[in-house]
Amino acid sequence: MKNNLSIIKKSKYFLDKNECIGIPTETVYGLAANAYSDFATAKIFKLKRRPKKNPLIVHYASLQMLKKDCKINSNFLKLFKKFCPGPITLILKLKKNSKISKNVTNNKKTLAVRFPKKDITIKLLRSINYPLAAPSANISTKISPITKGDVKEEFGKKIKFILDGGRSEIGLESTIVSLINKPKILRLGGIEISKIKKTLGSKIEYSPKDKNIASPGQGKVHYSPGIRIRLNIKIPKKDEAFILIKKRKNYGKNYFYLTKNENLKEAAKNLYKTLRMIKKKNFKSIAVEKIPDKSFGQAINDRLNRASKFQ
Ligand code: TXA
Ligand code: MG
Repeated sequence: MKNNLSIIKKSKYFLDKNECIGIPTETVYGLAANAYSDFATAKIFKLKRRPKKNPLIVHYASLQMLKKDCKINSNFLKLFKKFCPGPITLILKLKKNSKISKNVTNNKKTLAVRFPKKDITIKLLRSINYPLAAPSANISTKISPITKGDVKEEFGKKIKFILDGGRSEIGLESTIVSLINKPKILRLGGIEISKIKKTLGSKIEYSPKDKNIASPGQGKVHYSPGIRIRLNIKIPKKDEAFILIKKRKNYGKNYFYLTKNENLKEAAKNLYKTLRMIKKKNFKSIAVEKIPDKSFGQAINDRLNRASKFQ
């Protein structure tokens, strides 16, 4: 407890000085900075090598703070009551007098907001008087980090501090829902579409092949270990890493199980960890067994499809 207090203090010290630090969340680790500071948020883009036009998610611990920056509506309140804090990001209209840096929104009039669930991160957010802009703490297009060690691998000494909150329990980014017009899913993630639909009591748009992708960061190669990935494979090539979700009778030292009994939530949790492990073992190609396109399988397939665009 005392130890936690001192690492929260240390995090606050660096954030107050407009530095970027790594922070844990239940989805993935974030690269965080003061969302009200142009200077601090510019550093995030530089460190991640992120295109300026790709806006950032802002993390809050209280509705009261969020209301200073955004206009809320009834759909927001329904989803907030049901899922927050938790793995969901909501897109709202920005208030005219909000102090959010223009870097965060790419000068647009909407803001992506999230209430992360890790206790230590909630405590940190409560100890500061500004919200935290935090994209996933990886270099753009690469695999998202789910431990302090992963963040270190991405940025090394380029960041001053990483707040350790243990492994991210969900292991996959938040689901993004736009509430600007009719509710629309912009990214699959930690909460299934069916649950969101049920809470809103209405239809919700989701078109994975939509060319007018409303989440600017969702269009290209992404979540990639920098290795060729082949999907829906029954038998892998000899020297290929093989990602599986169903226990096989035979054993292969190139076999990597996300789950052994098709538990798709467990598989989602293990996806990034497994991709990182395969990369460290220097495999030159990855084959993935067919993953059912339902529940968390949809989010896994979304990430693997984007990762497989790497040539
Ligand atoms: O689980 C998560 O959401 C993690 C943790 C750290 O909170 N964060 C995360 O951030 O995944 P990032 O930056 O890697 O992905 C955010 C996505 C990007 O695709 C970005 O384009 C989209 O959210 N986004 C941000 N602001 C937006 C906005 N105003 N309208 C539409 N999409 C937005
Ligand atoms: Mg990301």
